[in-house]
Amino acid sequence: MAQVTNKDASVPTADLMDRIVSLCKRRGFIYQSSEIYGGINGFWDYGPLGVELKNNIKMLWWHAMTRLRDDVVGLDATIIMHPRIWKASGHVDTFSDPMVDCKKCKGRFRADQLAETPCPLKPSKTVAECDGEKTEPRPFNLMFKTTVGPIESEENVAYLRPETAQAIFAQFKTVLETARQKVPFGIAQIGKAFRNEVTPRNYTFRSREFEQMELEFFIRPDEAVEAIAGRVLEPDEIDLTDPRPDTTAWGWKAWLKYWVAQRMRWYESLGLPRAKLVEYWQKPDELAHYAKACVDILFKFPFGKRDASGELIGEELEGIAARSDFDLSQHQRFSGRPMTVFDEELKNAWGKLAPDKQSALRSRYRQSRLDYYLKAGEPPEKARALADADAEAFTKGYYIPHVIEPSAGVDRLALALICNAYDEDTAPDEHGNPEPRVVLRFQPRVAPVKVAVFPLLKNRPALVQKAREVYELLRPHMKAFYDDAGAIGRRYRRQDEAGTPYCVTIDFETLGEKAPELRDTVTVRERDSMRQDRVKISELVGYLLEKIR
Ligand code: GAP
Repeated sequence: MAQVTNKDASVPTADLMDRIVSLCKRRGFIYQSSEIYGGINGFWDYGPLGVELKNNIKMLWWHAMTRLRDDVVGLDATIIMHPRIWKASGHVDTFSDPMVDCKKCKGRFRADQLAETPCPLKPSKTVAECDGEKTEPRPFNLMFKTTVGPIESEENVAYLRPETAQAIFAQFKTVLETARQKVPFGIAQIGKAFRNEVTPRNYTFRSREFEQMELEFFIRPDEAVEAIAGRVLEPDEIDLTDPRPDTTAWGWKAWLKYWVAQRMRWYESLGLPRAKLVEYWQKPDELAHYAKACVDILFKFPFGKRDASGELIGEELEGIAARSDFDLSQHQRFSGRPMTVFDEELKNAWGKLAPDKQSALRSRYRQSRLDYYLKAGEPPEKARALADADAEAFTKGYYIPHVIEPSAGVDRLALALICNAYDEDTAPDEHGNPEPRVVLRFQPRVAPVKVAVFPLLKNRPALVQKAREVYELLRPHMKAFYDDAGAIGRRYRRQDEAGTPYCVTIDFETLGEKAPELRDTVTVRERDSMRQDRVKISELVGYLLEKIR
C-alpha cells in the first residue's frame, strides 16, 4: 500500500477521500442508509463506532456550552412545529436554492454548483461543460413537507425543521421565565434538521438529514448597552483571555468576536489543528438579509474549493451569525405574543441620562425598529407607529433582545475529525517486522473507544479471567472494548483503525508467572507512539482517566 498521509493538508488527494470512505464503511463508522435497497441519496447511518464518535461530539459541545456556563440553558424541542413558525422565519418564502434541469440526462442540479458537479453521462466533465441543454434556474424550496393527522390537505401541511434555531426563538419567553435567566443569556439545542438538498455531495458533508448544535445567545441592543454602561466597547477593547470578563459594555460586535474565539478554541480542543481551521468573515453581499455579520468557521477537508494557487479554501463547519432582533421580532408579529424583555438596569440607567443622550439613544433605537418593520413589509405609516411604540417602551426598560448564533453541524464535525485523524504509517507485526497500518489519530476525548482490553492468549483461562476482570473494572468509567480474537498484532491493528488511543494487554507477567513484582500489572500501549508502559491494575482507572480527559 502506498503511503498516504493527510498530515500535510496542502497535498490532499482524491485517493485519500476514497480510503477514508472505505475505512468508515469497513470499520462501522458510516454506512449508506437503506443500502440493501440500493441506498437513498443524501442519507447516512452511523455504525457502532460512528455513533460513539457523534455522541462524544454532542456531549463535549453540551458540556462546553451549558454545563460549564451559568448563562446558557438547554432545550429539546420537536422536529415538527406549527407551520406558521416557518412562515415567520422566512423559510416558506425564501429558503430555496436555484435549480436547473438537464434535458439530456434528466438530472436536476444546483445552478450555482454546475462547475463542481460531475456530469452523470460523462463523469470526466462537469455539468457546466457538458453539452446537455439546461432549463432556466428556478427556486426550489429545501423544506421537506408532510401532513399532520389523517387528512392530506393544504391546511394540514407541516414541515420537518430545516434548522433547530426557530424552536429556540418560539420558546424564548417560556424558557426566560422558567429558567429565571436575564439578558445576556443563551439557549442551546442539539437535534436533527432536514433539508431536501438539490445535490447532496461530498459524502456526509451535505446530507438531507443531519444534526445541528445551535446556540441562540440573547444580548441587549447596543442602545441599551450604551444607556447602561455609558458607551459600547469596540471589539479590540475586550480581553478574550479573561475567563470572567465584565460584559456590561459589550455590544453585538464584542459578543460576536467573543463567540468566534470560544468556538475556535473548542475545535482546537478536539484536536483540529489551527492550520486547518479558517475564520471567514462573510462579505456584505453574502450576508442573509437579517444578519449584521456572519463568521464561518471552515475546515480544510480533503475536498472542496481551492484558491487561484490551488490551496484548499476550506468548507463550512459552523456559522456564527449576528442575527439582530429579526427572528424574535418576526415571531412577535406573526404570533401576536410579545417577545420583549423588561430590563431593570436599563430602566434605572435611563432615568439618570442627560436629555440629549436620551433623545439620541431613543432616536437610534426607533430608527432600527423602523428599518426592521419596513424590511418586513409593513406599510410605512404602520411601521412608523410601531417603531414609535417600541421606542417609547425602550425608554421604560423594554426591548426585543438581539442574538448571536453559533450554529454547528454534528455530521460535518464528525467527518472533519475522521479526515483529520486518518493516517497511514508502519508498525511492527507479531514477529517484529514492519507492516503498513491505517491509524485514526483521534484526540482521546473524541475517540469512539477509549481503551481495548486483550488477554495475550485466548486459550489460557487464567489470562482470560484476569482480562475480563480488568475490562469490568474499566467499563463503568470509559468506553472500553474486549477482544480476544486473533494474534495480538492483529488486535492492535484493528484498534488503530478504530482510533482507540490505549490498548491494555493481560500477559503472563500479570499473573506473576515471570516476576513476582509484576503480578497485577498490565501493559498499556499508546496508539501513536506505540510506547508500552507497565501499570498496576489498582492504578489503571486513574492512569487512563488522566489521559483521556
Ligand atoms: N440556524 C442557522 C443555520 O441553520 P446554516 O449555515 O444553514 O445555519 C448551520 O447551518 C450548520 O449546519 C452548518 O454550518 C453545517 O455545519 C450544518 N449543515 C447545514 N446544512 C447541512 C447539510 N445539508 N448537511 C450537513 N450539515 C449541514
